[in-house]
Amino acid sequence: METVRTVRKLRTALRSAKLSPVGFVPTMGALHKGHLSLVSNATESCPVVVVSIFVNPTQFNDRNDLKNYPRTPESDLDLLRGVMRERDIVFMPEDKEIYPEEDSRDFRFGNLDNVMEALHRPGHFNGVAQVVSRLFDIVKPDKAWFGQKDFQQLAVIRELVKQTGNKVEIIGNPIIREDDGLAMSSRNRLLDPELRAKAGIIYSALSDAAIMIMDNDIPAIREHVIKKIENAGGFSVEYYEIADDIELKPLHTKNEMERGKRYYGCIAVKAGNIRLIDNVELPVM
Ligand code: PAJ
Repeated sequence: METVRTVRKLRTALRSAKLSPVGFVPTMGALHKGHLSLVSNATESCPVVVVSIFVNPTQFNDRNDLKNYPRTPESDLDLLRGVMRERDIVFMPEDKEIYPEEDSRDFRFGNLDNVMEALHRPGHFNGVAQVVSRLFDIVKPDKAWFGQKDFQQLAVIRELVKQTGNKVEIIGNPIIREDDGLAMSSRNRLLDPELRAKAGIIYSALSDAAIMIMDNDIPAIREHVIKKIENAGGFSVEYYEIADDIELKPLHTKNEMERGKRYYGCIAVKAGNIRLIDNVELPVM
């Protein structure tokens, strides 16, 4: 694989590859098996794949989070060598390549701006939309892969593509988990070891909900999920909502569930200072 750091070199590399469809996997690095599964799926369906590694400053609403975000470029490249081919490209730009000048675009995503992550991380999805639209303009992919772990991000990207009329096909990838069920995340390595040892409780509680929904309503499920996680000690739940994957409208009661739609129990948990998100699909009752 080739590693390029400028937009110019990326364009030259893609032009000389003369291959299509072009697959794309945007990341912020500190790669793990979740990222690698996206890259493997991309290489299976595209003759040339671009992986970007860029810690996008505009999507961090918390300066400390940006400062502490793990950066492991050497090990990222080692991991990518294991799954990428000679003709694939790693794009590792500096800030000024992506933002030659300040990006003042203001995206609107309707209801997607008014629920869950958007309420707790103001401006976050605007920053995600800025960087992803910029990366799409640079890479011009035919297909792009995103993880379902970032449930709301995936919906926002689909809406972004719709709004901008971009022809890129967006593909959602299942969540890759650790042995104890914890969703893999670059932030997991920042967890306090004691909390890490208990963090499987998050997936366990989310999975309980998929069974409880058969004979309980949403308030009882929410109470169980929050209590189970918080009783483990050291965790605090920011929100737990059950929502569909298109409009992301949180449900109040399961009578609002509609056949033909898919629903997910979505959670954000603070484990010490580290914020974790996850989701598990629920059957329609
Ligand atoms: P990052 O957190 O690095 O994630 C890159 C991609 O990997 C995202 O699509 C994310 O959903 C996916 N991913 C992360 N953990 C996963 C897991 N356990 N299983 C499956 N997929 C997983 O998401 C971002 O970066 C950024 O917001 C980005 C889209 C790159 C824009 O800056």
